[in-house]
Amino acid sequence: MNIIALNGSARGLRGVTWKLLNRLLKGLEEGGAQTHAIQLKDHVISPCSACLTCMHKTPGLCAINDDMDTIYPYLKDSDILIMATPVYVDNMSAQMKAVMDRCICCLEPFLRIDTADRVRHPFIWNMPGKFFLVSTSGFPETESFAPLIQTYRAQAANFGSYPIGEICIPGSIALQMAPHLLEPRLDMIQHAGKMLSKQGGVDPSLLEEINKPIVTREKYLEIAAQYEAWARKSRGETGR
Ligand SMILES: Cc1cc2nc3c(=O)[nH]c(=O)nc-3n(C[C@H](O)[C@H](O)[C@H](O)COP(=O)(O)O)c2cc1C
Repeated sequence: MNIIALNGSARGLRGVTWKLLNRLLKGLEEGGAQTHAIQLKDHVISPCSACLTCMHKTPGLCAINDDMDTIYPYLKDSDILIMATPVYVDNMSAQMKAVMDRCICCLEPFLRIDTADRVRHPFIWNMPGKFFLVSTSGFPETESFAPLIQTYRAQAANFGSYPIGEICIPGSIALQMAPHLLEPRLDMIQHAGKMLSKQGGVDPSLLEEINKPIVTREKYLEIAAQYEAWARKSRGETGR
């Protein structure tokens, strides 16, 4: 099984998104999958220019030549696309959205009724058949992920792929202040990766456990107060 994992966090290897993704990849590899992770922040990926050259002149090929050229081959050859992105302004990061927009070069311009009875474009080449989401949010509420999950599922459907699971851990502000709190959950994520590799999916009850908020709202606010004290000090504020 081949896995392409895109990390759309602007902080790359320093972010919580990578902590989650890294452990999922470890589990996938333990289970025998071949993984390839790409830090989008280190790549130059322009937004789609809507020239539609890919549809009308060079079917399947984007007219923009940038680092997407190195990502398309992995998208074409992988069984699963892992979209790892923090919640930015209630959705995926701009880095991740740029990649998804640039993938419209897999579409024909024509319109047909798809298997879900919707009018959609057929494909010139196929994106990975399965999509998996990994995310974290600064705020503690699980509702923070709702627009992102809806978007990722819709994107998978439009590309003819199946959204097979989501790992969405809220409250990253607290988890960055107290990283030890995340550790037990990372072990569970690694286990989920192994399961995904061996069975092609993750038990929904395991995902449910993984996605439970790690800290209560009260504990979150307590840690947030420590964060505020640190932030004020680093801004040079001596008193409130
Ligand atoms: C531009 C920007 C927008 C953000 N918007 C939200 C948001 O709408 N909701 C939320 O819960 N957190 C938001 N956050 C917080 C991030 O989701 C959080 O800090 C996360 O840990 C960032 O991922 P990283 O640790 O991989 O860098 C935002 C952060 C940034 C930089």
